[in-house]
Amino acid sequence: MLVEENKTVPLLFDTHAHYDDMRFDEDRDELIPSLKENGVGAVVDIGCSFDTLPKAAALAEKYDFFYASAGLHPNDAQEAENNPDTIEILRQYLKKSKTVAIGEIGLDYHWEEPSRQIQKKWFEIQLRLAEETGYPVIIHDREAHGDTMEIIRNHPNVNGIFHSYSGSPEMAEELISRGYYISFSGVLTFKNAAKLPEVAKIVPNDRMLIETDCPYLAPHPYRGKRNDSILMKATAEKLAEIKGISYEEVCAITFENAKKIYRL
Ligand code: NI
Repeated sequence: MLVEENKTVPLLFDTHAHYDDMRFDEDRDELIPSLKENGVGAVVDIGCSFDTLPKAAALAEKYDFFYASAGLHPNDAQEAENNPDTIEILRQYLKKSKTVAIGEIGLDYHWEEPSRQIQKKWFEIQLRLAEETGYPVIIHDREAHGDTMEIIRNHPNVNGIFHSYSGSPEMAEELISRGYYISFSGVLTFKNAAKLPEVAKIVPNDRMLIETDCPYLAPHPYRGKRNDSILMKATAEKLAEIKGISYEEVCAITFENAKKIYRL
């Protein structure tokens, strides 16, 4: 089929971004409107700490193509534990019309703090909140595949997105059978992406997503620089190459998938 370039601009859906981050303080108000002119059709900003929950919600209110998540990151599990109002605060953010998911939640064993026990406790609590409210979840799993999968298996009625996926092809297969979506960040383009291209090969087209995790994880050849949704084109191109489909098809497929899991 002939694509008329001027009429059909392929649109990217950035399923995971942190435009609330201080690294965007200088130029956020110029950068975000420019995304729309550069092929970015939708962005989910991740509200995942007591500090970023209001910021993500405010971005979703300000920009029509922005949505927000609401959850507490495993690195913030101790703060969640210390605050007697944590669950009530999360519930308030989940009531907002542009909140689309609970996340990012999960386990992060890269650092020794907070304790694994506290991280698991708040991962469980937020999965139960997902069961109760019907929201999809956005999972952060860093160096914690075994425990993350064990907890996921205990909540078979929950589904969502494994963000910046870093597990094996076998783990991806199990997640897909459980209804989850696999999201690829700029890491897919790295020379040392390890098993990720293998994962991308086996993930069905209707379960793959792309994201920036910006300002982190800029794709090659921008690695190490501040990331943004415009640079995600490089990730989409890499995914197109691995899947043997066009860039336009990757945009269309991942856009539809994101709309489906975020219920837009
Ligand atoms: Ni993130």
